[in-house]
Amino acid sequence: MAILVTGGAGYIGSHTCIELLAEGHEVVVTDNLVNSKYEAIRRVEEISGHKVTFYGTDLLDRDGLQAVFEKHEVEAVIHFAGLKAVGESVHRPLSYYRNNVMGTLILCETMQKYGVRNLVFSSSATVYGLPERVPITESFPLSATNPYGRTKLMLEEMLQDLANSDSRWSIALLRYFNPIGAHPSGRLGEDPNGIPNNLVPYITQVASGKLASLKVFGNDYSTPDGTGIRDYIHVSDLARGHLSALKQVLGSFGIDAYNLGTGQGYSVLEMIRVFEQVTGRDIAYTIEARRPGDIAVCYANPNKARTELGWQAEKGIQEMAADAWRWQHSNPAGYPVHVDPRRLLG
Ligand code: NAD
Ligand code: WQD
Repeated sequence: MAILVTGGAGYIGSHTCIELLAEGHEVVVTDNLVNSKYEAIRRVEEISGHKVTFYGTDLLDRDGLQAVFEKHEVEAVIHFAGLKAVGESVHRPLSYYRNNVMGTLILCETMQKYGVRNLVFSSSATVYGLPERVPITESFPLSATNPYGRTKLMLEEMLQDLANSDSRWSIALLRYFNPIGAHPSGRLGEDPNGIPNNLVPYITQVASGKLASLKVFGNDYSTPDGTGIRDYIHVSDLARGHLSALKQVLGSFGIDAYNLGTGQGYSVLEMIRVFEQVTGRDIAYTIEARRPGDIAVCYANPNKARTELGWQAEKGIQEMAADAWRWQHSNPAGYPVHVDPRRLLG
């Protein structure tokens, strides 16, 4: 039996493949490489010493997806594939609804057709919209502040309806807080296209000299130093969370949502200081206006995942920063492009 990982060449998916292979799972990946490179899969194989079966299939390609289910006996799906850039989603909402909502719809229809009803879904803390207080628990009201967030919210609701319609479905909605860091080997990490939108890849590119200076988006929030506070979680801890969720999904029925975060918040200025320590370099920055749509403080109450999934984050902020820096330092241009496997498979 295989675990199908959609979006498995991406940042969180590739780290999750490592954990799956380490536990002896057979791993099949579908990824159209719209935001990733095949090299990530090659390195997953190199680190783990195990083979990954890769298909360059787009989730919107129903026939291609069915062919994957025909070829493999899929036990469960871990579904990462989707577009994730908040700003881009404001300018290209239809691409986000098509890719994220329709892609997931076609995936679920295909799963239903092949009798596969175990699903771990990548949701996001963005579904809490503008939370009234912190720490955030899973029972907080849900809302969206941008089209990307709305796709996650719509999909959570669609999956809830699906689980309500047929008690054989087993679904975990994993609400990630802010994943950062990289595999400790320095071989796998986050490889954003162009100028990074997120804080940590931006900081590491300033530290490496690739970018001149960080723009700190606002220092007038009601936080101790005025800058935004977030719950940063090591991507390997997050990846392990998927294994715990997978076990839960395979051993039960129904649908449940879990926060995957550390429960601890760090401000932008605190993050700059941590990276200065870890890299031994100065991080130049300027204070700029707030970024539209940003919230002051966001961190999880991760107790539900601890008590119900038996999972908790283990790696601290220094380790997250050290691993992010090792990745940036040893892969200044990200992953190289060798061969486009879509020509070979799928
Ligand atoms: P990523 O872009 O690195 O990975 C997503 C992968 O999906 C990419 O490899 C991309 O090529 C693939 N993909 C996209 N559309 C596809 C399609 N139609 N068919 C096949 N493959 C497709 O992003 P990530 O950071 O690894 O995020 C994984 C998931 O987690 C996403 O659903 C994202 O929305 C969610 N998430 C990410 C974060 C974060 O900060 N990174 C936070 C919360 C939730
Ligand atoms: C973190 C903090 C910024 C960049 C985003 C998505 C969210 C989720 C995770 C997918 C904030 C500040 C940032 C910069 C800065 N993704 N910042 N200068 O916004 O918490 O979450 O990624 O689901 O949906 O919105 O993460 O890393 O962009 O920002 O000052 O150049 O760093 O204002 O306080 P965010 P981020």
